[in-house]
Amino acid sequence: MPYMMPVTKCAVPNPALVHLQQEGFMADSFKIDFQPHGKVETGDLIVFVGDNLKPAPAVAKQIGSKAVDLIAKAAAAENFKGKAKSAMTVVLPNGLSVDRLIVIGLGGETDRAEMDFVQLGGLISGKANGKSATAVLDLPGIDVSPEAVAEIALGAQMRRYSFDRYKTKKDDNGQKGVTRLVLSVADPAAVKKAYKAQESVLQGITLARDLVNEPPNVLGPQEFAARAQALTKLGVEVEILDEKAMKKLGMGALLGVAQGSARGGCVAIMRWNGGKASDKPIAFIGKGVVFDTGGISIKPAAGMEDMKGDMAGAACVVGLMHALASRKARANVIGAIGLVENMPDGNAQRPGDIVTTMSGQTIEIINTDAEGRLVLADVLWYVQDRFKPKFMIDLATLTGAILVALAQEYAGLFSNNDELAERLAAAGKATGERVWRMPIGPEFDKMIESKFADMKNTGGRFGGSSTAAALLQRFVNDVPWAHLDIAGTAMGSPQTEISRGWASGWGVRLLDRLVRDHYED
Ligand code: BES
Ligand code: MN
Ligand code: ZN
Repeated sequence: MPYMMPVTKCAVPNPALVHLQQEGFMADSFKIDFQPHGKVETGDLIVFVGDNLKPAPAVAKQIGSKAVDLIAKAAAAENFKGKAKSAMTVVLPNGLSVDRLIVIGLGGETDRAEMDFVQLGGLISGKANGKSATAVLDLPGIDVSPEAVAEIALGAQMRRYSFDRYKTKKDDNGQKGVTRLVLSVADPAAVKKAYKAQESVLQGITLARDLVNEPPNVLGPQEFAARAQALTKLGVEVEILDEKAMKKLGMGALLGVAQGSARGGCVAIMRWNGGKASDKPIAFIGKGVVFDTGGISIKPAAGMEDMKGDMAGAACVVGLMHALASRKARANVIGAIGLVENMPDGNAQRPGDIVTTMSGQTIEIINTDAEGRLVLADVLWYVQDRFKPKFMIDLATLTGAILVALAQEYAGLFSNNDELAERLAAAGKATGERVWRMPIGPEFDKMIESKFADMKNTGGRFGGSSTAAALLQRFVNDVPWAHLDIAGTAMGSPQTEISRGWASGWGVRLLDRLVRDHYED
């Protein structure tokens, strides 16, 4: 009797599995409203000052000269200098129009010229601590367009995210019970229009964060595929390649990783056709390792729980597809994710194994913990072969080495195409999801030559992120391509004004911006 493969469990998703709601998000208990300037509201008033401690003239008029004086007095007492990202609360005496002012500093001229409105929105919702607060978005020395307000609202919402589905005792997670944030603006109708697109992006970010935060027992390959399948309700076409289909295609590298897990693996292909029928699609590819034990080359125990986030690339792609479809982006977009679990098992692949990829090239496995590149090798090849895309961008929590190089500040960017790389860098500057270009080329490609196969899956001690990228490049077949190593930016993220949790949702805003700026007519 030949060895029987375990039953493949990542087949066509079972709709019953789409029970993972977006519960982590506190949207139900937190609401943003837009109102015209001057409308009186109960609750705290949030106002903004430059480093001269002066609010915008119309705001000064609205709160009255007594309140403006009190801001100056309180600032002197509190040593508040109106610096960017600083804040102070001023309790006002009876008889003034509001009880409490929250004063947020915007800093000097250069700070204000470089204002990141999304971050400002996060700061605003972080500083609000009453049941309801009104932020008067008339900023001294800054022109606040409806698009800027929409970004502020996006940041304010991103800040509210928390993942507490598995806490049976709900606390409010430092959310301070704020239930309503009113943004007082010049033109609410224009803002509402601009915010519509940002709300789609917000949903995409929330979805990506939820997927990364979910524990690995709950979110296996099949459950993940079901979440991708759920995008059909937005008009996305979704197709699942199960193990039988992948075998037929010859995806030996992906299957080699999947074979160590009782849960099997699959590829989910998402298609959003928002552009002209004749337009070549653009393609996003994600590493979706739902849990990475390292396989037979097993990882040390300490911190291994973090490897539930090894599907952050795939989560970003699903979140992006959600955002693009929900805002009806005028572009043809492919999202493709390779979903597997890297486990040590009686049937797991070994160091020394040689696998044959869909491209026909062979790979010698040196370290089963270098599994992400194996998964991506087959998905990249499949996407370029089937869809002939304008470009491919893959996202992957691929190497620990990228953390050594760039900490958690930048994602590593590797590309065979300067135009694409520059566009990504520009989108990174615009969104604050920054990328830093890293080298690939013949020197690194040489480091993955193998004694026994066409290549090996690791490149030795040095340049670990570049040798990983060099392997991927062998599967892109000259299609314009960029690889984003997001091991440092997408998971275990430090707290910022817009991200309080473990998963940041990194990449959704970056790539939405890239599409918006260059690939929609
Ligand atoms: N998923 C890891 C990379 C990773 C490390 C992601 C830290 C997030 C945080 C990847 O599969 C891996 O294990 N890479 C190895 C490669 C090595 C065996 C060549 C690494 O970085 O150590
Ligand atoms: Mn690994
Ligand atoms: Zn991994």
